[in-house]
Amino acid sequence: MTDKLVHNTFGLKVTAAQILEYHNEDELKNFIAEGKIKTPFLHVGSGSNLLFLQDRYEGTVLHSQIKGIEVTYENDSEVFLRVGAGEVWDDFVAFCVGHGWYGAENLSLIPGEVGASAVQNIGAYGVEVKDLITTVEAIDINGQKHVFQQIECEYAYRNSIFKRPEMKVFFVTYVNFKLSKVEHYKLDYGTIRKELGDATSITLPLVRQTIIKIRQSKLPDPKVLGNAGSFFTNPIVSREKWQSLLAQYPNMPYYEVDEQHVKIPAGWMIEQTGWKGKSLGKAAVYDKQALILVNMGGASGTDIVALSDTVCQDVAKQFGIDIHPEVNFIE
Ligand code: EPU
Repeated sequence: MTDKLVHNTFGLKVTAAQILEYHNEDELKNFIAEGKIKTPFLHVGSGSNLLFLQDRYEGTVLHSQIKGIEVTYENDSEVFLRVGAGEVWDDFVAFCVGHGWYGAENLSLIPGEVGASAVQNIGAYGVEVKDLITTVEAIDINGQKHVFQQIECEYAYRNSIFKRPEMKVFFVTYVNFKLSKVEHYKLDYGTIRKELGDATSITLPLVRQTIIKIRQSKLPDPKVLGNAGSFFTNPIVSREKWQSLLAQYPNMPYYEVDEQHVKIPAGWMIEQTGWKGKSLGKAAVYDKQALILVNMGGASGTDIVALSDTVCQDVAKQFGIDIHPEVNFIE
């Protein structure tokens, strides 16, 4: 039994029967060999995408403290890096920007750790982490080491094989990335170009600062207001559905997915239902970004779920579209 709290950015006070932290692969293998990992178990990063439904987790919470950013190979145009799963994601981005390596800058300030980034396929401003990953290293519950090639991870929008229930027995220990030394930027998403304004020379630090500024203007700081970033994923709908909605809402924003599908921003739909800035009990829809649910102070996991269910129902009623939480619910 431990009184230590399980870290989570929703600001929920959650304890666990056992919390185990490991600093290298051997320490994890020893926990396994010694039978320390009791079922049920849950492998967490920094808890920036978790919603605990109970105030106690009756099992083992595992957390990687594997640190380190190592250059494994480089040439004139590319650099290959092996990064410990317990590195803070944004520290890694800052490291790359500081070294003049291109590719990660649009993912600045995303909360969480490197291991979870590869599970969740984090993404923002036109970039997903799958674009940078080469391989993912993991140890399974029997202590066996595995190396997954990027293609084997089956990356999709906020998804990978590691999110499947049967894959919860794999613990990511290192993620390997490829970044570019050749100057290039992705500036076409949303307001990036507008925010850059008339900057005559674009640099990596400037792009990072711009992304940070945009995020800070829209996204609540979890240290101030508990939240887990986007609470829902943006639904992908058929072109027929999109066209019928567009006839009704000509100003509806959308993103192209493929020839048959279009992605509709759930935040926009939630705003249309009137929920933006409104609360239900101690949980609320954030007033600057309706895709985010916040803990107004003292909310429980079930308070947040009650708000999530109500918002989903109202979106379904108005738009005929089911939206789904991106955040993982932990029973
Ligand atoms: N919108 C509204 N009202 C709102 C929120 C959004 O009308 O309250 C509209 C915006 O005006 C815009 C569109 O919806 O036209 C998209 O909004 P935004 O660019 O803020 O992005 P998003 O789709 O709401 C996604 C990611 C974010 C990521 C941003 C930027 C998901 C689930 N979320 O949000 O990721 O930062 O794009 O790339 O895909 C996260 O996953 O935690 C996260 C913050």
